[in-house]
Amino acid sequence: MESLRQSLKTAMRSVLTALAFSAPVAAIAASGVQLDRAPSLLHDRVALQRGAALFVNHCMGCHGASFLRYNKLQELGISEAVLKENLMFSATKTGERMLTTMSAAAGRQWFGATPPDLSLVARSRGEDWLYTYLRGFYRDSTRPTGWNNTVFPNVGMPHVLYQYQGGRELTIDEEKPVLDEKTQKVIGGEKVVTVFDENGEKTVKTEKLAEAPAHASHHQHFAAKSAGSKSALEYDQMSADLVNFLSWAGEPAQDKRFRTGVWVLGYLVILFALAYAMKRAFWKDIH
Ligand code: HEC
Repeated sequence: MESLRQSLKTAMRSVLTALAFSAPVAAIAASGVQLDRAPSLLHDRVALQRGAALFVNHCMGCHGASFLRYNKLQELGISEAVLKENLMFSATKTGERMLTTMSAAAGRQWFGATPPDLSLVARSRGEDWLYTYLRGFYRDSTRPTGWNNTVFPNVGMPHVLYQYQGGRELTIDEEKPVLDEKTQKVIGGEKVVTVFDENGEKTVKTEKLAEAPAHASHHQHFAAKSAGSKSALEYDQMSADLVNFLSWAGEPAQDKRFRTGVWVLGYLVILFALAYAMKRAFWKDIH
């Protein structure tokens, strides 16, 4: 019985994960770039544990999640021993806040911007934005760090997960109507193709269009050029795990809130059925 329940649970989980990954393109960022839908895996504690480990190993050199204390991670099923051994590099007590060791001044000096605390970033930016951001780094030789980002133009953060993702080439296709300077009337169309190759060299090609497009459009795509240590799908999953962890960090009780909500609604439905049955019983002699 127990093993049947277990396998049902696992099956449910894979269905939910598959659904989450197949979700279509979502909203549009302020920069005009379409955001990809972040798979929601908040019910998945193993994914959250992976996200926590990634965060501690790859992000905390520059960012803190100061609203969390290390021992809060035990709620994700991480034991105290594992926590102390593998997840606490700069802290000695499990009750300490998850602070970065980098000073704000050093961050400003090295990257031109202080890496912000990420406790609430999933709530301020949104999960889809974060998911697109972590997968949106491209080489740009004009930037001081050599990196740029499709949803955060001229970002100060380098692509710290580059070794996993590998080298890519970004192509941006833009079409726009061309206006006459004086009359502001549409006099033609233009297509601009910008490519940032794997080394960050930029080439721009402009073409005249025979027919003016009705609206300006912006499309972009990445092409893999050299392999990273993870496949594209695995890299997406890493990004999803990180986003998921940041979402949990912003509101650790949200899964519980959702579950409680289901119980409360169920309770109200039953109460309504009882109240309705009682009303019928009270009024049956009058009607
Ligand atoms: C080498 C230092 C460094 C590391 C490591 C690093 N970041 Fe950053 N990050 C920055 C800097 C600097 C900024 C500020 C960029 C700016 O404002 O231009 C930033 C900005 C961000 C932002 C945008 C925040 C906002 O709302 O403006 C997010 C999200 C982010 N980092 C996530 C991460 C994640 C997730 C990791 C771990 C995988 C990570 N960072 C690792 C330096 C770093």
